[in-house]
Amino acid sequence: MFELPIRRDDGDGTVKPKAAHNLSLEEMDRQSLIHPFTNLKDHASGAAAGPSIIESGHGMRVRDRHGAEFIDAFAGLYCVHIGYGRTEVADAIHEQATKLAYFHANAGHSNEPAIRLADRLVRMAPANMSKVFFGMSGSDANDTNIKLVWYYNHVLGRPEKRKIIARHMGYHGGTVLASSLSGIPSIHQGFGLPLGPILHTATPHYYRHAQAGESEREFARRCANELDALIEAEGPDTVAAFIAEPVMGTGGIIPPPEGYWEDVQGVLDRHDILLISDEIVCAFGRLGADFAADVLPLKPDLITVAKGLTSGAVPLSASIIGEEVWKALERGAERFGPFAHTFTYSAHPVAAAAALANLDIIEGEGLAVNARDTGAYFQERLGAVFADHPMVGEVRGMAMLAALEFVADKTRKTPFDVDLGVGQRVSAACRDEGLIARAMPGGDILGFAPPLIMTTADADEVVERTRRAVERVAADLRRDNQI
Ligand SMILES: Cc1ncc(COP(=O)(O)O)c(C=O)c1O
Repeated sequence: MFELPIRRDDGDGTVKPKAAHNLSLEEMDRQSLIHPFTNLKDHASGAAAGPSIIESGHGMRVRDRHGAEFIDAFAGLYCVHIGYGRTEVADAIHEQATKLAYFHANAGHSNEPAIRLADRLVRMAPANMSKVFFGMSGSDANDTNIKLVWYYNHVLGRPEKRKIIARHMGYHGGTVLASSLSGIPSIHQGFGLPLGPILHTATPHYYRHAQAGESEREFARRCANELDALIEAEGPDTVAAFIAEPVMGTGGIIPPPEGYWEDVQGVLDRHDILLISDEIVCAFGRLGADFAADVLPLKPDLITVAKGLTSGAVPLSASIIGEEVWKALERGAERFGPFAHTFTYSAHPVAAAAALANLDIIEGEGLAVNARDTGAYFQERLGAVFADHPMVGEVRGMAMLAALEFVADKTRKTPFDVDLGVGQRVSAACRDEGLIARAMPGGDILGFAPPLIMTTADADEVVERTRRAVERVAADLRRDNQI
């Protein structure tokens, strides 16, 4: 008789069947899968609503396994620029996986899609960009960029120029280094982070942090002055780089205040400090252009990209490296020999093939221009519906990034009691309306990062569903005398 293979637990003698067992997918998930940014206990016990098992997607819409359809106004996690269900990318993946699913890039090995993608990125990127190193995630690409900065200063004979300045509420990923760079307290707590020579400076959020009577321009200058003072206090000879998202994402979707990048760039230039522009959210059209430097006055020395590079179809990231850093890497070869930084999957051929097909769509369908134009329409509609809403303190955004910040008292900008979980409740109410919009971790903030294929009709639908969701939560809060 056939018997299921079993594994006995040494400790308590529990018998675990090794083959498939008769559980629902939901139950299997709760028993086995750890989810990021999820209350692990509530999820595992079933006290939380999840898992929400997404089965298919088309255009801006995804469908769960029970057939419920959602407009995804966050493009997954800011990823799916070209929309769901694009067979062009699937075909490119299939073709490349059939021909050569994998080879490494160590010791000068290469493959055609990775070569063509590196060449294409260099040509798309700002003029001073000259080389590309591929990774698998935004986090590892940020790690790579930090290592490149450290290597650069070693080659230049000043290894003590090593500190990295990031920003409070910035988000740069989940590895030890990238989460240390991040300035979101919940990412540090419980892990003993941040680690390393990392400092944080002001969040450039005018609505939240301006002083009484301070203009936006003055506020931006104060942020830059604070950065300048931090560099002076630490000693410019010890500060290597500043890392920032051109428009802050996960920290609350915060466009830079007027004049911010001019002033910050001036400070960095004055102290010979490199700029790492983390464009993992912003690149490939989300701001209405290929790269942030096309629309904002910043001059990065290194750029980090991921997400929209493949529209999330397969994991791929890239560190795009400016000529000045490259020259040091070249000199480093004389001193240190082969460049001793590698990932098994760097320059992965299947991922590169997916990226090429994805960029063909972004370019061929003019999605950056659509992001600019439809994005402007979306911002205008959000403003028209929510700017005067008593529960909405600020409507903000740029192109295909937008946010609503909810407040208990609009005049005084008083936040809601954290325990009310207003941002989470609005996000949940959006779900009930068939809309995915994200409760951001930095407060009662509802974020939008739609696929770049969004039309004005889609934008109207997103705004209308959001309006209904906000009204439902407002009615509940009114009933409970919270507003
Ligand atoms: C600006 C920014 N940097 C880095 C990351 C980390 O990317 P990944 O999750 O692919 O490691 C993210 C992810 O959301 C991000 O938004």
